[in-house]
Amino acid sequence: MKSIESVLHEHRLFPPPAELAADAAISGMDAYKTLVAEAEADYNGFWGRLARETLTWKAPFSKVLDESNAPFYTWFEDGELNASYNCLDRHVEAGNGDRVAILFEADDGTVATVTYQDLLQRVCRFANAFRRRGVKKGDRVVIYLPMSVEGVVAMQACARIGATHSIVFGGFSAKSLHERLVGVGAVALVTADEQMRGGKALPLKSIADEALALGGCEAVKSVIVYQRTGGKIQWNADRDLWMHELAQAEASTCEPEWVGAEHPLFILYTSGSTGKPKGVQHSTGGFLLWAAQTMKWTFDWKPTDVFWCTADIGWITGHSYITYGPLAVGGTQVLFEGVPTYPHAGRFWDMIAKHQVTVFYTAPTAIRSLIKAAAVDEKVSPSNYDLSSLRILGSVGEPINPEGWMWYYTNIGGARCPILDTWWQTETGGHMISPLPGATPLVPGSCTLPLPGIMAAVVDETGQDVPAGQGGILVIKRPWPAMLRTIWGDPERYQSSYFPEELGGKLYLAGDGAVRDPVTGYFTIMGRIDDVLNVSGHRLGTMEIESALAANALVAEAAVVGRPDEITGETVIAFVVLKGARPEGEEAVKIANALRAWVSKEIGPIAKPRTFDLATTCLRRVRARSCAGCCVR
Ligand code: WTA
Repeated sequence: MKSIESVLHEHRLFPPPAELAADAAISGMDAYKTLVAEAEADYNGFWGRLARETLTWKAPFSKVLDESNAPFYTWFEDGELNASYNCLDRHVEAGNGDRVAILFEADDGTVATVTYQDLLQRVCRFANAFRRRGVKKGDRVVIYLPMSVEGVVAMQACARIGATHSIVFGGFSAKSLHERLVGVGAVALVTADEQMRGGKALPLKSIADEALALGGCEAVKSVIVYQRTGGKIQWNADRDLWMHELAQAEASTCEPEWVGAEHPLFILYTSGSTGKPKGVQHSTGGFLLWAAQTMKWTFDWKPTDVFWCTADIGWITGHSYITYGPLAVGGTQVLFEGVPTYPHAGRFWDMIAKHQVTVFYTAPTAIRSLIKAAAVDEKVSPSNYDLSSLRILGSVGEPINPEGWMWYYTNIGGARCPILDTWWQTETGGHMISPLPGATPLVPGSCTLPLPGIMAAVVDETGQDVPAGQGGILVIKRPWPAMLRTIWGDPERYQSSYFPEELGGKLYLAGDGAVRDPVTGYFTIMGRIDDVLNVSGHRLGTMEIESALAANALVAEAAVVGRPDEITGETVIAFVVLKGARPEGEEAVKIANALRAWVSKEIGPIAKPRTFDLATTCLRRVRARSCAGCCVR
């Protein structure tokens, strides 16, 4: 957590560049305030207008928001649409079929260009293949794929036929994949033989096989495999199918399945403070509206832009700002398979120059690690690359420290590109609090002001507003179209986690602490107020890691805390009481390594504790997240 003093101490102000402001979707603070006032004066009218202007509907909606079953809100409920139609067909029908949708750069630097026409045909072929395999509206499909055009195609193909996708990040273990396959009751799984990252081939299909062998997912009738490397894999002829063979056999047109606006577009699992990860369920209409609208507002998207979001499609950022947002507006985007440090730590800067990227969106962890790399090796310094194509920079997933902000602003943006510090969550579907590039004066480390229509506030434990300058709990006071609809299969948990009685049952509890500046009213996020860690911008529940450790035969009890880290924001520290004698020296190292590997296998490498303390006898204070180390000998 940041200290309030350090937050309120930051007074550097960076006004929007005049040239950018002149031509921006929201130009100047007055334009921003006009939209805010429009939403306040007529909330339903405001959202209804945006939904009609931004999306193409098959059947119009007659009602905007239904609050009768709060907090199970519905939006545009009797309207009908299809997400893939909005992302593909409508651009082709408007004569933009030849526009580049995706500039794909592989791990080894090979580039493939996919136009809207190509993408539509690939999605249609795959959607037809799904249909032929019996996948239909309302079914769930799990996707366990690397960063690839195929990943976007699989997601869009699900949307086209009304199947609900659930992506599992390619770094998750067989156990995590299995939990999600069972959790959503998947009928099909899309995976790849292997994935390429940093010059190495890593398995996917064999992990998928392992997950399926754990049992309980007999509903999975088809395992569709994208051939990425041609590496050797096991083949189960009853179930396994090559993606390219399936697609080749199918027609390149496919009538979209028109669905109601509330139809679940996807379920994405994310860590909470208690229990197992939650399946966050998003709608079709509300989610897509906000993904597209924030492309226009936050990123000031223009047809001439080359947009690049470096997130993985396995996380919400990849859903909103790779698969849906950029395509819904008809944009050209870069899609990157690899990692920022391969073959060298100048890869991002090289790719910005090569593809003439204009809007670049990444995570503070990546920036901090590249600052360090450039300090060590002059050859990978951004000053060696022509970054003049850039006009807007974004940051997401974790707090950006003012030093990192200044480096990003100066060395990547050449002191001419606004930095959009976008605060949002898996549950919010899209940006909530963020500067607007042509309107908001920037303050390093602050996500500034809520987007128009988003009623964010800072309150105390009883739900009362706290004065500016005083820290509190970040809440959203009114429902918004892109909010999660429920937790898949667990509506009670949805209600108790996000609309707790303590706050009056009506405020959306984000789980972050925040403070507002007394002069500007700007929000600064102070960090999570619950037991969720943020490691390299990835959410991890302490309880999840504790349960994984406790499941190991050597472990009697375990407690996990986060420790601030210069590069990754936070790092995982585990305190463990072993069943046997307390190990010393080499033996302790061996056990720590075994437990680290265990957590990798149980959850995934991202959850691995950095350090272990095996000498602990009392975990009470650690659990209370206030460990003073008093019991550690
Ligand atoms: C954190 C990622 C500070 C926050 C889109 C939130 C941030 C959690 C920011 C959601 C930001 C996200 N400044 N903290 N700009 N953006 N966070 O669900 O703690 O993976 O609650 O969504 O990341 O993480 P999630």
